[in-house]
Amino acid sequence: MAIGTAILEAFYQAAGQFVATGELAKILKTPAGQVACEITELQQLGYNIESHPHFGYRLLGAPDRLTADDIQAQIRTEIIGREILVFDQTSSTNDVIEHMARSQAAEGVVVFAESQTKGRGRQGRAWVSPRGKGLWFSALLRPKFKPAAAARITVAASVGVARAIHKTTGLDARIKWPNDVTVAGKKVAGILTELHAEDDEIIAAILGIGIDVNCRREELPPDIATSLLLETGKPQDRAALAAEVLAELDDCYRTAQTDFDFLIDEWARLSTTLGRQLIVTMGARRIEGHAQALDGDGALLLRRDNGQIERILGADVTVEK
Ligand code: BTN
Repeated sequence: MAIGTAILEAFYQAAGQFVATGELAKILKTPAGQVACEITELQQLGYNIESHPHFGYRLLGAPDRLTADDIQAQIRTEIIGREILVFDQTSSTNDVIEHMARSQAAEGVVVFAESQTKGRGRQGRAWVSPRGKGLWFSALLRPKFKPAAAARITVAASVGVARAIHKTTGLDARIKWPNDVTVAGKKVAGILTELHAEDDEIIAAILGIGIDVNCRREELPPDIATSLLLETGKPQDRAALAAEVLAELDDCYRTAQTDFDFLIDEWARLSTTLGRQLIVTMGARRIEGHAQALDGDGALLLRRDNGQIERILGADVTVEK
């Protein structure tokens, strides 16, 4: 474990209390004299750390900057977040992960960027990623299920993001099928899953997620989008949210492979789509029907007026008034 991660982990576990210098030296396996140097490095990065001649050190505040050490210090995950990288700027974090996937990177690596120059959403749309205002990140997955069940990834991710937003902010985060997480009817997060499959096997799935955390109104697309700042009225700790999101994604992703029915039930409780009369557009095709259920592959089952059931994967959905 990196030194920064180990010190921050000790501080987070102490939850604002002092950690003795001897304790930190033991954790770092260094002489006590070295601890002061490591603390100075963190202070130079913007961490507000108080030192006391008898009690040791305590963390009073963290900078509003994502670092791998900080996120890693706050999580214990099995797959997603095994390795975390943070870039100041990328074209799209999905592109970075795609490149890593081709270089045989291991499942679970996550790339965050403070800003993206070519962030993209579904259906070729652009994704606005203002610097330092959100969580713009992608994870490399290599699931065991077949490409036909790839929609499970987006279902699992939407449940994970909604859970994490609710846990950290108390907001009633909901899911609009197929890939939006909403608060008070407006989009707060989007999910873009891209797939590489060969011979009916998934070689790599790139799970890209954008969460509008501390965006001001003028930094968001008008009318349809919101941010956690706007909904709670206060700025959110992005590193803490990132850690919570990765922990929930890890849990949901593992469940998607072992007990997808469990996730379907949770998705149904969080869904704003289920039970509604919908207009669904897939390219030039436009159909209407009643959103009845998700199937075991993560497809939406739409009951048309003639009773026929349509399986819908990755479409644009409008809820009929
Ligand atoms: C959508 O709602 O259409 C999906 C938006 C996905 C945006 C995220 S931000 C991180 C990752 N990199 C991208 O270029 N897109 C995804």
